[in-house]
Amino acid sequence: MTHPHAEPHARTEPQNEPPAHPSHPSPGDSAAWDERYASAEQVWSGDPNGSLVAEVTGLAPGRALDVGCGEGADAVWLARLGWDVTGLDVSKVALDRAERHAADAGVRVTWVRSGLVDAPLPSGGFDLVSAQYPALLRTPDHQAERALLAAVAPGGVLLVVHHADVEAGSGHGFDPADYVMPADVAALLGDGWQIEADDRRPRTVRGGAGAGHSHDLVLRARRRS
Ligand SMILES: C[S@@+](CC[C@H](N)C(=O)[O-])C[C@H]1O[C@@H](n2cnc3c(N)ncnc32)[C@H](O)[C@@H]1O
Repeated sequence: MTHPHAEPHARTEPQNEPPAHPSHPSPGDSAAWDERYASAEQVWSGDPNGSLVAEVTGLAPGRALDVGCGEGADAVWLARLGWDVTGLDVSKVALDRAERHAADAGVRVTWVRSGLVDAPLPSGGFDLVSAQYPALLRTPDHQAERALLAAVAPGGVLLVVHHADVEAGSGHGFDPADYVMPADVAALLGDGWQIEADDRRPRTVRGGAGAGHSHDLVLRARRRS
């Protein structure tokens, strides 16, 4: 399946330095993320993320962008609800897995292999932009945050979720300060946006590598029409 504005699985554009450790790849480094995904048959739980389910249930389906879609559980869940979904990720291994997941589920998703900042996404092209635990590199000019905002259509929803309980020095050279957090996105929201949720909440995950995290930070903002 081909995104009208991209070459799926064709672009690999690392955005920063080599990884500190394969189990905590540097943001945007596709080789390191491929290595992490290749290290296990399945890395994440396979279930849609709880904060996505809570925030999106009840929204009228439209065009959705899943940023850092990983193995595709969220994208497939959205597609099953009738959303026209684009799943974006830097990892070919993850996208191949996501594509199989969608085929098994009998749903159609457009997969794009790219870093967010380099992705040729249509400006204002999505009624929902979801970024669940995205490994997006923070930069002084806030490129990733601006790319998230730019992708949302007038009247559309931006949902950014991250772990509330990750601390610096938790291992392998991983530093959460390297990553875009919901607060970084919230700081850029001007009058053209309405914040509908900005909170910390418990999360439950059945298994997978993210199971150790107990709380989410959730930002949901709607672009004014
Ligand atoms: C912590 S995982 C979360 C995966 C998925 N959202 C989930 O909740 O299961 C972060 C994902 O972001 C992807 N990623 C890393 N840098 C990226 C970038 N610059 N643009 C898009 N995706 C990126 C990784 O390959 C990985 O799949």
